[in-house]
Amino acid sequence: MTVVIDPAFDPVPSLARATSVSVSSQPPVDPGALAVFVPAEGELPESIAEIGRDALAAAGFTGAENQTLLLPGTPLRVLVGTGKAGIDSDARLRDAVAAFTRAAREEARIGVDLTELLASGDWDAEVAVQAAIEGAVLARYRYDALKSDPKTVALEELMLQIGEQHAEAAEYGVERGLILARTAALSRDLANTPPRHLSAVKFAEVVELLAPEFGLEVEVFDREALMQLGTGGLLGVNAGSVEEPRMIKVSYRPEGAALADAEGHLALIGKGIMYDSGGISLKPSNAMHAAMKFDMMGAAAVFASMTALRDLGTTTAVTGWLMCTDNMPSGSATKLGDVLTIRGGKTVEVKNTDAEGRLVMADGLVLATEEERRPDAIVDIATLTGAAMMALGTRTAAMLANNDSVAEQLQAAADATDENIWRFPLDHRYRDQLKSNVADLSNIGGQYAGVILAALFLNEFVDGLPWGHLDIAGTMQAESDDLWRSVGSTGFGARLLAEFAAGFVKPAGEVDAPETDIDEADADDE
Ligand code: BES
Ligand code: MN
Ligand code: ZN
Repeated sequence: MTVVIDPAFDPVPSLARATSVSVSSQPPVDPGALAVFVPAEGELPESIAEIGRDALAAAGFTGAENQTLLLPGTPLRVLVGTGKAGIDSDARLRDAVAAFTRAAREEARIGVDLTELLASGDWDAEVAVQAAIEGAVLARYRYDALKSDPKTVALEELMLQIGEQHAEAAEYGVERGLILARTAALSRDLANTPPRHLSAVKFAEVVELLAPEFGLEVEVFDREALMQLGTGGLLGVNAGSVEEPRMIKVSYRPEGAALADAEGHLALIGKGIMYDSGGISLKPSNAMHAAMKFDMMGAAAVFASMTALRDLGTTTAVTGWLMCTDNMPSGSATKLGDVLTIRGGKTVEVKNTDAEGRLVMADGLVLATEEERRPDAIVDIATLTGAAMMALGTRTAAMLANNDSVAEQLQAAADATDENIWRFPLDHRYRDQLKSNVADLSNIGGQYAGVILAALFLNEFVDGLPWGHLDIAGTMQAESDDLWRSVGSTGFGARLLAEFAAGFVKPAGEVDAPETDIDEADADDE
């Protein structure tokens, strides 16, 4: 290709921008800005008591949640509203620190006094410190790798003040906060990178380059290798592209132990459509289409989450499968009516080339089930359906699972990270909409229940193993800066999967799997 890309272009700029965090029982030293948390009701904090509520109200500041007001001076003081309830959860603390960090955008060294907060209520200092760091680092995140004159002031130091009794717990919180913020920022970097700059081939190079630093092993499958494996879904989606596909297998083995000896084994599959034009079923040229460089966020979340595993002390072995290609129309593209053979032999009639995610994911799921040491659970993550966005909007991702333990563990991770998910029913009664006259399956069903139909399609490939599915289409991007979500890719799922894997326990309980072949499934009676 004769397109000029700066050879010095760094696809993961945030890794070089580390924030240092200091924790002390003493006030921050020379901060550029200090946070002052102000509730909407009751007494004002001592440091601003002389100003009085009336004067604050006259300046438009009521103490409403995450509202901010700058009090110029050295240091700059930033009032942050904490609402009527005050800061009563780690999610609220993450938000409040993010609001502060955004308001103090010119300052490289900022301080937050958590002493009083941690003395009230039953806070776990580790959790609080972690949330504060995530809030600050992620709020300061900005994708400016391609700006000639980036204006972002890097967050050099975050100074947290806490009581001495919390010092030890806070130490772990600092570690975890920095690891998870880095993880989310890495996934944002990868997703924000334009599709020409980060093709599937380039993505594989980046993963290979970074993996050793995080104790991960990588195996990259090029087109030739994929043909050997028979991954007809990934190859079929890639057929219209001049860019080669890549499947990237990433392995984390706790303390280098052999997979056979690991306590548990988790497989993570990520949708890596580097750019989704829709293929022959071309998308209209609108804002949604223009966001389709984010269609690889599932793969970005899987890889980024895995960079946290060693540092978090994860005892479960994790295997990641990144299914990467772009989806393009051309003379060689897959046509409507074409039939693809997925790894393992199931055939799929392509009735819409824009339902490509499930095709590449199917190959990944099958490969995961085929591993000699079978996974104890499989979790996949994909920007899979516009229907997820229609149903839940941009703040909550859809989750489906064939096992309650997997669902509960995903929910717990989502609660911890404030990356919200909502469980949808895996309703097998819609399954026969996926029947095809010529193949084992069709890649689309009817007009309704798009989230469930996509999940039911994937369910055909998990071989009855405990499985969870995250449809992050709605949550993949923020249209404007919003607390710790910065404009562009949200990095949704990276922290969630890291927390999930780090806390993973082998699921007990039943798997809700269809018992018959789809061609034997009863006709839908609705
Ligand atoms: N990548 C899209 C889904 C998407 C839509 C992500 C909006 C983020 C925002 C996916 O490949 C797609 O095109 N899905 C189709 C499926 C349909 C053809 C069954 C969709 O949702 O329209
Ligand atoms: Mn599509
Ligand atoms: Zn897509």
